[in-house]
Amino acid sequence: MIVNKQHYRTIWPMLSAGSGRAQVAILDQTQLPHEFAIVHIANLAQMEVAIKTMQVRGAPLIGAAAAYGLALAAQEDASEEALQAAAQRLRLSRPTAVNLDWALKRMLSMLLLVPQADRASLAWSEAQAICDEDVLQNQAIGQHGLALMQQCQPKSAQVFNVLTHCNAGWLATVDVGTALAPIYAAHDAGMAVHVWVDETRPRNQGASLTAWELAQHGVPHTVISDNAGGHLMQQGLVDMVLVGADRVSGQGDVCNKIGTYLKALAAFDNGLPFYAAVPSPTIDWSVSDALSEIEIEQRHGDEVAFIQGLATNGSLQSVRLVPSGSSTANPAFDVTPARLVTGIITERGVFSPARLLDAKRA
Ligand code: MRU
Repeated sequence: MIVNKQHYRTIWPMLSAGSGRAQVAILDQTQLPHEFAIVHIANLAQMEVAIKTMQVRGAPLIGAAAAYGLALAAQEDASEEALQAAAQRLRLSRPTAVNLDWALKRMLSMLLLVPQADRASLAWSEAQAICDEDVLQNQAIGQHGLALMQQCQPKSAQVFNVLTHCNAGWLATVDVGTALAPIYAAHDAGMAVHVWVDETRPRNQGASLTAWELAQHGVPHTVISDNAGGHLMQQGLVDMVLVGADRVSGQGDVCNKIGTYLKALAAFDNGLPFYAAVPSPTIDWSVSDALSEIEIEQRHGDEVAFIQGLATNGSLQSVRLVPSGSSTANPAFDVTPARLVTGIITERGVFSPARLLDAKRA
């Protein structure tokens, strides 16, 4: 990703100037779009907090952050007991995105094969490998998604309109993004593409993050309230709904940010294609009934009761929207059943839910 003409990833290892020990640099996504802040993570506890508080978020990035969290832990104590305990702490930091568990399992299975003295250096190189693979997978998703967009007949001769929910761009991954990867590829290939960006209450990942990164890349976009999508579809102003996912079942059910299901229903009713773009680590082949088996993260009700923004004096502030006596509920994800999903765009190609097993074999 390019920010102010400089190339960044969302996470990278670095040496601390003071201690000479390895640390991890992240972009603090709780400050965006108002401040571009790089934060240094020095230990396991800090990485756990960064994931819980969503300084890093988005399924692939959570996986990469967990891998680096384990590398930080291995730097302190690389015994099997310490690594298992560290992995368990990280595993509990956010429950829904399967990439987190996937990355921890991959790291542990590698680390426990080698002598304790070799584990810390292996942990850093394996975390780096996870990051590099994520970038390659997302680039491939971009090309497969671009081909889909080129085959699709847009309603207007002037522009191809995509509607997206939450943030599944480079901020949600190590780089490139999943759902936004085809959009960047289309824009770079000279296709006139415009994105309807759902604001994505309560955390506003669309309004804050997707809008910001699309603007950095120069992609035309319009932020809409979460309730506007169905209306725009009825008006013929949407050609494709394209989202990311936190977990996709082997049957092609898509678990993604709360509100995705309603967009899929509206797309279905309007005969519009609904695609989820996911790298293979986001597919959980062990899940057969997504609705009952995927744990939906329940976040604090204050995320619903309050809204954060930039005050006129330039400071980031949180203000209350909801009467103090009202109770709030905050389920963070929902499941879109496979029957509403046109296809899953993976690094190995595009698969209908019924043919998703082919993605495993490809
Ligand atoms: O709660 P978040 O911001 O971590 O949720 C992110 C999403 O729901 C994304 O759509 C999903 O992780 C896909 S990211 C490529």
